Amino acid sequence: MLLERLAPAKINLGLHVLCRRPDGYHDLETVFLRIGWADRLAARPGADLRMTCSDPALPTDERNLCVKAARALQRAFGVTHGAALHLEKHVPYGAGLGGGSSDAAATLLLLSDLWDLDAPPDRLHALAAGLGSDVPFFLGPEAAFATGRGEHLTPLMDPATGTPYRFPFALVVAVPPVHVATVEAYRLVRPRATGRPDLRAVVTSNDLARWRAELVNDFEAPVMAAFPGIRAAREVLLKAGAGYAALSGSGAAVFGVFEAEAAARAAAEAARQAGCRVWTNVAP
Ligand code: C5P
Repeated sequence: MLLERLAPAKINLGLHVLCRRPDGYHDLETVFLRIGWADRLAARPGADLRMTCSDPALPTDERNLCVKAARALQRAFGVTHGAALHLEKHVPYGAGLGGGSSDAAATLLLLSDLWDLDAPPDRLHALAAGLGSDVPFFLGPEAAFATGRGEHLTPLMDPATGTPYRFPFALVVAVPPVHVATVEAYRLVRPRATGRPDLRAVVTSNDLARWRAELVNDFEAPVMAAFPGIRAAREVLLKAGAGYAALSGSGAAVFGVFEAEAAARAAAEAARQAGCRVWTNVAP
């Protein structure tokens, strides 16, 4: 038996770092949006736990978040057998796209199936939150408003229709060849808890002029000041006609939002020319 599952990445539509907490984490609020750029995870039954990965640069031992997720699931449900996991990596990691977090969530879901665990959603959520702040989002709906460390989630709803929010734009994600350490990005950011707009209202307005005026990722200014290559990547997207462009998470990924598919296609090409790894939801 072989089970497979995609592990899609996310972008952040706005991100407010509200305050530093006594436990060293930060309270934040953000809108997570799942995107089509995805890794692929496969699992087969096995006596013990093994992992392979298409990218030789990634560790496949106990340091890998997929292996950590599998171990957490084994412990929580008293599972004594293992599995052979294979991860086909497509999403750049350490880029603010949640790639590793999504792989971990996909591991929880895939092995729950493989091991027939019938795991209640709240137990999976708790295991996910223990693996990383972004992991629980990848167990849930396509778009969510997140608070706390990022683990308190409510599905993002379209106020006009009462249905789950659906992103209506052409999207280009560009990852410049720069690495931003998340912990360092948190050190650079100045938390602010008051006077923040309601990210849900801003995002669901689908009004890009309003996004430009009100949708802020607090990491963006300090991270772009420290890494000019990231600012340059965002400039490429804006010059190609993005109605909105911003940093995702703590970077280095930036994304551009476009009303017109032709502009998105041109932006994707320009970002590739500029040396970025690029994904777009627009067909070539
Ligand atoms: O939860 P995760 O392991 O992804 O977080 C990595 C690091 O990012 C944490 O050790 C912490 O320094 C920082 N972090 C934070 N506040 C958050 C999420 C992460 O300070 N809400």
